[in-house]
Amino acid sequence: MRKTSHRKLDIISGNNARRRNKSDMKVFKQISAALVLTLWAITPTGAQESTSEKAIKAFNDFFKFDVPYVPTPPEVVEAMLELAEAGPEDTVYDLGSGDGRIVIAAVRDFGVKKGVGMDLDKDLIAQARTNAKSIGIDDRAEFHISDIFATDFSDATILTLYLLEKINVQLRPRILDELRPGTRVVSHQFSMRDWIPDVAINERGRRIYMWIVPAKMAGTWTWSIGGEKYSLELTQKFQEVFGTLKGPGGTAELNEIRVRGTALDFETDLRGNGTAIPIAFKGINAGDTTKATVTVNGQTHTLTAMRTP
Ligand SMILES: C[S@@+](CC[C@H](N)C(=O)[O-])C[C@H]1O[C@@H](n2cnc3c(N)ncnc32)[C@H](O)[C@@H]1O
Repeated sequence: MRKTSHRKLDIISGNNARRRNKSDMKVFKQISAALVLTLWAITPTGAQESTSEKAIKAFNDFFKFDVPYVPTPPEVVEAMLELAEAGPEDTVYDLGSGDGRIVIAAVRDFGVKKGVGMDLDKDLIAQARTNAKSIGIDDRAEFHISDIFATDFSDATILTLYLLEKINVQLRPRILDELRPGTRVVSHQFSMRDWIPDVAINERGRRIYMWIVPAKMAGTWTWSIGGEKYSLELTQKFQEVFGTLKGPGGTAELNEIRVRGTALDFETDLRGNGTAIPIAFKGINAGDTTKATVTVNGQTHTLTAMRTP
């Protein structure tokens, strides 16, 4: 596995992400339309009709699927896979895989055990298959002519996207519900609106976002220590968790705790009767159980918290 990077990592706000991405596609379409008009204007009058027809056909071809084909530059491909810490345990899916470059780099340069690309463009799929075969990795890099909205990608441990913000948002419920917690989702250039990324970086003027699929932690969790009952009430928005902890020594409000994959960690003070009891919770979720070490007043206990139905 390659080491992640010297690159500057930063967390960004959803609003900033939205501002950066909103106009990308609009500008892209405006430039394309301007090119069509320029081509038409500089063409001799007799030839204008067929030239403009060709230009319009090229324009329509370009936009024939949900997202046009624009390849990710190799340095950005590398940065995306580095950010996701791609390695031999991973299965990488690229939704809308173009010429296969992300899947091929993941298998060839990062040694992932399997890479899967899907695209509606059969010529690009043929090209991706040829590219993989020519370097002898076609046993681990597969490409399918399929629609990203109708294909299962639930066994991905890394999902890569170079689509559009609105397509990312359409895919979002499936990403959150079908992918295992801890799966890394890396998007070139386009955000997920109000799902704030865990990390965002710049590479050669491109924005790269990464989200870690959070475990579903909302609900009421209970455990006991030495016969004393604790109850943790959680609500969740993506990886942000809020809630209240109640224990024998009082209560505590938990504000903006972050879930990272299956991990939920927080520190707080239970307050009541004029005392403050320090609590540190480190848990790993597995559905309706969370195995945790809970330190109360300096004493550490290993236990399983249960979600009450
Ligand atoms: C911007 S390109 C990205 C190509 C490649 N992932 C890369 O980063 O170099 C988007 C790709 O998505 C494909 N595409 C668009 N809509 C699709 C859909 N509904 N299902 C599958 N592929 C789609 C396009 O054909 C195009 O190749």
